[in-house]
Amino acid sequence: MSSKRKPDQELQPTASTGFSRRGFLGTASATAGAVGSGLLEQTAEAAPPAVMGPGEAEITLTINGKAAKVKVEPRTTLLDACRERLEITGAKRVCDRGTCGACTMIVNGKTVYSCTTLAVDAVGKKIETVENLTAGAKTHPIVPAFANHDALQCGYCTPGMVMASKGLLDRTPNPTYEQAKAGLGGNLCRCGTYVGIRKAILEAAKELRASGARTTGGSNA
Ligand code: FES
Ligand code: FES
Repeated sequence: MSSKRKPDQELQPTASTGFSRRGFLGTASATAGAVGSGLLEQTAEAAPPAVMGPGEAEITLTINGKAAKVKVEPRTTLLDACRERLEITGAKRVCDRGTCGACTMIVNGKTVYSCTTLAVDAVGKKIETVENLTAGAKTHPIVPAFANHDALQCGYCTPGMVMASKGLLDRTPNPTYEQAKAGLGGNLCRCGTYVGIRKAILEAAKELRASGARTTGGSNA
């Protein structure tokens, strides 16, 4: 007798497994169909992702502790939302391409270039602008320290420098001169007031330590 199997024999259940090849394929196909339809149902039930644009939509920004509703396009920057729509004009547009730092704001504790930050990406975050440093009961000491050390000339860079200094003091309450220098590495001053700015940071740090406060004048942030 030949030991070669006839084709039909391959489809019969084997003694060891109880499955035939055809039966197995049928079961697998049914299982795949069930899983597939389950996935389809899940996909149908899942909430569709929020779609915005290309036109304007209303968002809420939390700026200096206050909620502000504003209509923006998805491409609108945080700087434009503040300056053009909300009349919060302390941050300046100078390069408008993330190189000079004149537009610096603090978002969730980090200094950012607001000219390259989308307004929609700032939703749900704490945004602090230079206006906040004089908004509370007490002015933040970095403000008078800039005046005391002649840390500004034309003033184009100043709001950004002040906010970058404030952000540095929040992170490093007792900076060295070198840390003050490195901490403002992302901000440019065409008038060259860097030495005065670094001295202002050290003076403000001293004031903050003396008053026992890490942050003042930012009570709304
Ligand atoms: S205006 Fe934003 S970095 Fe220059
Ligand atoms: S004070 Fe003029 S650019 Fe800095």
